[in-house]
Amino acid sequence: MDFQPSEQQVLVRDMARSFAEAELMPRATKLDRQGFIDPDIFEKMGELGLWGLTIPEDHGGAGMGNLELAIVLEEINRACASTGVTLSVHNSLLGSPIMQFGTQAQKDRWLPELASGKRIGAYCLTEPNAGSDAAAIATSAKLEGDEWVLNGTKIFVTNGAFAGLFVVYARTDTSVSKAKGISAFLVPKETPGLSIGKAEKKCGIRASSTTEVILENARIPKDALLGPLNAGFKVAMYTLDGGRIGIASQALGIGVAALEASIKYSREREQFGKPIGDFQAIQWKLADMSCQLEASRMLIHKAAWLRDRKENCTQAAAQAKLTASRAANYCADECLQIHGGAGYTDHFHVERLFRDARITEIYEGVSDVQRIVIARGLVPA
Ligand code: CAA
Repeated sequence: MDFQPSEQQVLVRDMARSFAEAELMPRATKLDRQGFIDPDIFEKMGELGLWGLTIPEDHGGAGMGNLELAIVLEEINRACASTGVTLSVHNSLLGSPIMQFGTQAQKDRWLPELASGKRIGAYCLTEPNAGSDAAAIATSAKLEGDEWVLNGTKIFVTNGAFAGLFVVYARTDTSVSKAKGISAFLVPKETPGLSIGKAEKKCGIRASSTTEVILENARIPKDALLGPLNAGFKVAMYTLDGGRIGIASQALGIGVAALEASIKYSREREQFGKPIGDFQAIQWKLADMSCQLEASRMLIHKAAWLRDRKENCTQAAAQAKLTASRAANYCADECLQIHGGAGYTDHFHVERLFRDARITEIYEGVSDVQRIVIARGLVPA
């Protein structure tokens, strides 16, 4: 067993850290308040190759793995969780299933534009009546001649406002059990009949985009089917295994930011004649935060390592997400407590960390879904 990061991993971590500290940290509060990410940030991410981090070099990407993506996502989310989820969804929920299930023509058509950031990716699974029960989706896809015709409404779509390519999950067979009649489709934004609906106003990650995606007789070519017909639920679940490692990395980054803010404040803030960090009550909080974050990092790196080896990482990804999201919320909560009344105001960015951490226990599978996935691995049916 080797805990030493490779030379490439150190380089990519340092690159992501420098970018995050220079471009995101000073602006994250402003982005949160304005409710969108400035376009120049996306351009700089393109120049650094972040959009194509895990896309193979022969399709214009950096050809790195899930472990490097996790390392980068920790750094980006330490500075700005809105930018972090945008990047995570793009790489893990769109690039990944095309690489795994796409035909050569689909890879050639879409991966270079995803790698450059010309098209940002979005993942359309959730519907008003299909959240945790993802197999209950009602959006339909019917073959008419050489075209699929899609109808339905997707909600909570990250990157919806500016995505150039959507992976849409739709029902293609109603005669079989729920999960067995779903297929995945690649739908570009210019598809007639595709429109972007309501943008959500959120508790946290406010600069990220979360919208409805509406499909009204949206016509796409027959070869837009991603993966085998009626095997789309497996495409969705395989994809989410990787996405959950991304969200776990996001949680870790937020938690690290909370620990760092807590250490800084506990040195600066004096009460009862000394820095509050001299009190054991504060020291124990910092110690517990660091243990939870380090344990999360180990689980994340193990899950990413398994995925890079093409081994099953379903359980490991769920363990990483469950643990890291709990750690992020614990750290953000304790951080706010350490900051006292000032932490509850906008004098510090810790109130943003507190709001941003909360979503990590919800999206890409709520914590109880992660427990279901973990328990099924422990006690097979
Ligand atoms: N990889 C590949 N195949 C998988 C799989 C995986 N990880 N997990 C399950 N499958 C397969 C199963 O083997 C099964 O196949 P067979 O029928 O051939 O045996 C099939 O898929 C159905 O699996 P289940 O019986 O486990 O399905 P289920 O209906 O019981 O659902 C669930 C299980 C874990 C609860 C699942 O519905 C789930 O993960 N729900 C949460 C959905 C979710 O995370 N949504 C987030 C949406 S994205 C988002 O948050 C927004 C964003 O943009 C960030």
